[in-house]
Amino acid sequence: MSAEEFRRYGHIVVDRIARYMDEVERSPVLSRAEPGAVRASLPAEPPRAGEDIATILADFDDKIMPGITHWNHPGFMAYFAITGSGPGILGELLTAGLNVNGMLWRSSPAVTELEEVTLDWLRQLMGLPEPMFGEITDTASSSTLYALAAAREFANLGIHARGVGGQRLRVYCSTEAHSSVDKAVITLGMGSEGLRHIPVDERFRMRPDLLAEAIAEDRAAGMRPIAVVATTGTTGTTSIDPVPEIADICERERIWLHVDASYAGIAAIVPEKRYVLAGVERAHSLVVNPHKWLFVPIDCSVLYTREPGYLKAAFTLPLEILSTPEAGVTNLMDYGMSLGRRFRALKLWFVLRYFGADGIVERLREHMRLAQIVARWAEGSEDFELCAPAELSTIVFRYNPRSGTSDVDAANARLLALVNQSGEVFLSGTKVRGSQVLRLAIGNLRTTESHVLRALELIERTARDL
Ligand SMILES: Cc1ncc(COP(=O)(O)O)c(C=O)c1O
Repeated sequence: MSAEEFRRYGHIVVDRIARYMDEVERSPVLSRAEPGAVRASLPAEPPRAGEDIATILADFDDKIMPGITHWNHPGFMAYFAITGSGPGILGELLTAGLNVNGMLWRSSPAVTELEEVTLDWLRQLMGLPEPMFGEITDTASSSTLYALAAAREFANLGIHARGVGGQRLRVYCSTEAHSSVDKAVITLGMGSEGLRHIPVDERFRMRPDLLAEAIAEDRAAGMRPIAVVATTGTTGTTSIDPVPEIADICERERIWLHVDASYAGIAAIVPEKRYVLAGVERAHSLVVNPHKWLFVPIDCSVLYTREPGYLKAAFTLPLEILSTPEAGVTNLMDYGMSLGRRFRALKLWFVLRYFGADGIVERLREHMRLAQIVARWAEGSEDFELCAPAELSTIVFRYNPRSGTSDVDAANARLLALVNQSGEVFLSGTKVRGSQVLRLAIGNLRTTESHVLRALELIERTARDL
């Protein structure tokens, strides 16, 4: 592709993205594609002759777009809502243009050094006092996997050379923790029995007393506790585990403390929410996801650690072809599974600079204000009830009319399905204490008060028609 052709289509694609962002609200937020429909619309075999970009773009519009669920839609309030912000998209475009691989410092010094600078900025924004090693990974799932690999090295069991073997290792998290912890423990060879889920209190927070008991019981049974994963902002109810008390236990027991703050860590940028990271400075590692609530296009997760030596011990191998003469530099390939790494810091840098600390605080506060509208509505309603504390930007509630309904769970499942069919709003459902609930997450910069009020109107009207 000549520079001239690239320029011509590049302008068309940027215009296309700008129009998409302006018009995204006109499409149904949740794709209406039937299973297999996108695949059926595409040839089963690759093209023999090359095709021009205009034809490919036409197919993109006709065949791909109908299969898109619009995470950029202001009515997207499912899972954890996110934003592909303009500055983030522009940074991502430059990353694709440069196409560098930051595996070593010398393979693109700016990749490593911009990552160091932006992650230190983010640390400062979140109010964490001490400098820490940070690296960008694709997802929180990878970040937690890496943290637990470091925790195994910290336990000094010779696993790097001999593997887990018959050692019965144990990791702890709450019953509300994300399944990425289970996946990491299983992937690291500790088996699903290597993870013990600790019960939570009435606010869905891990109970430190039961954690301490579990560790004592496991030690007595000959198991080897190696790490605790505390969560700041659980997936279901966004509860915040008591990290200071958990840190006391980890210090006493000499085991690694990893904090999964992938969603809620970003809230600490807002001064009055800084408490969400209380005690985290005592953790050995921490994950936060700028691609969740910091307007950075997916993917961008950050793993911080006070103990990069253990991360390095888990992942470094002497490789002749990759040996490098520079001293005193960080070669990021030594801190994780992948050798190659994208220049993800660029989009984070664009976002942090474009919005600035004040702009970020203002927008996060607005999301939490909108969430409070939902919480007050649920509390004040005759027909709905709030099902979990509402501290951040995600609200958990359910339909439970005072006039009564025969099967509350079935009614909520039906309500969710009908609301999601509307095309205007997309919510998640989950179980809280075994009951079916609805979960409305605000995290998209395009979501305004009128979108939230419209969502509530739709939910109320649909519930009346049930
Ligand atoms: C608390 C928590 N941890 C981890 C994850 C996994 O995140 P990722 O998709 O970045 O792996 C999620 C996903 O929503 C989450 O809610």
